[in-house]
Parts: sequence; structure tokens; C-alpha cells
Amino acid sequence: MAQDLIELAQAVLHKAYAPYSGFHVGAAIRSASGQTYAGCNVENASYGLAICAERSALAAAVSAEGATLRILEVAVRAERPGLGAHGASPCGACRQALIELGPEALVHYLDLQLRPVSRPITELLVDSFRL
Ligand code: THU
Repeated sequence: MAQDLIELAQAVLHKAYAPYSGFHVGAAIRSASGQTYAGCNVENASYGLAICAERSALAAAVSAEGATLRILEVAVRAERPGLGAHGASPCGACRQALIELGPEALVHYLDLQLRPVSRPITELLVDSFRL
């Protein structure tokens, strides 16, 4: 079921703008409405401005569906061009960003040994910050 989402994440990582790290990341989100949204990482000469693929996909999803967005699933894929696939789970900041609109979300990624992992966001981030 997650295969289409994984393929979307894999496809969009080729759009990454990552001239500084050389680390290309793609993320895809499936919402409760059944729609899918993709995003890649976008870096900047001012390094700290980089946006991760997961938050890029989140921005696309919210822009399309607004505040009622409910995230069901997230897929992440990463590559270093010329070197091939690389494991990548969402960073801590992205976990916090995703859980806000997807507390029941299941996250699909590759671990550092390139083994597929599917884990609830609540396992990836316990006691997330809430207001
Ligand atoms: N990156 C992501 O896109 N997602 C993550 O969860 C971790 C890191 C990006 C940010 C930066 O452009 C590059 O990977 C190297 O850190």
C-alpha cells in the first residue's frame, strides 16, 4: 500500500536543490483525503535556511488542503548522486512538524543499512511538544 508513496518520494528526490551537502532527499505524504503530496530538500548559501524534504512536502500538503489536513502516511528516500541510496529517517525537527498534523501517521524510510522500516510517528517522537 505504501509502494506508491515510496515511489513518489524516490522520484521527487531528483528535484532536490542540495549543492552544499550533496544529499538529496524526497518525501511524500498521504492525507486522509487520499491525496498525495511530494517535497524535496531545498538548501541555501546561508546554510541554516535549508528546508528538509519532509517539511517541504508538509508545506505542499497544507497549501493544498489547509488546516484540516490529516497525515496518514509519510515516505522518505535519500540518495547521494553518484553514490546511490542512503538511509534517512526524518530529523527531529521534521518529526515535530509532522506529528502536529499526523499524530497517527506511519513513516516509511530506510535505515542506515538500507533496510525498510515502517514506524508510527509517535514511536519516532515520544512526548512531542504541544500547546
Ligand atoms: N534533510 C532532509 O531533507 N530531511 C531530513 O530529515 C534530514 C536532512 C536534508 C537537509 C539538508 O539539505 C541535507 O538533508 C543534509 O542534511
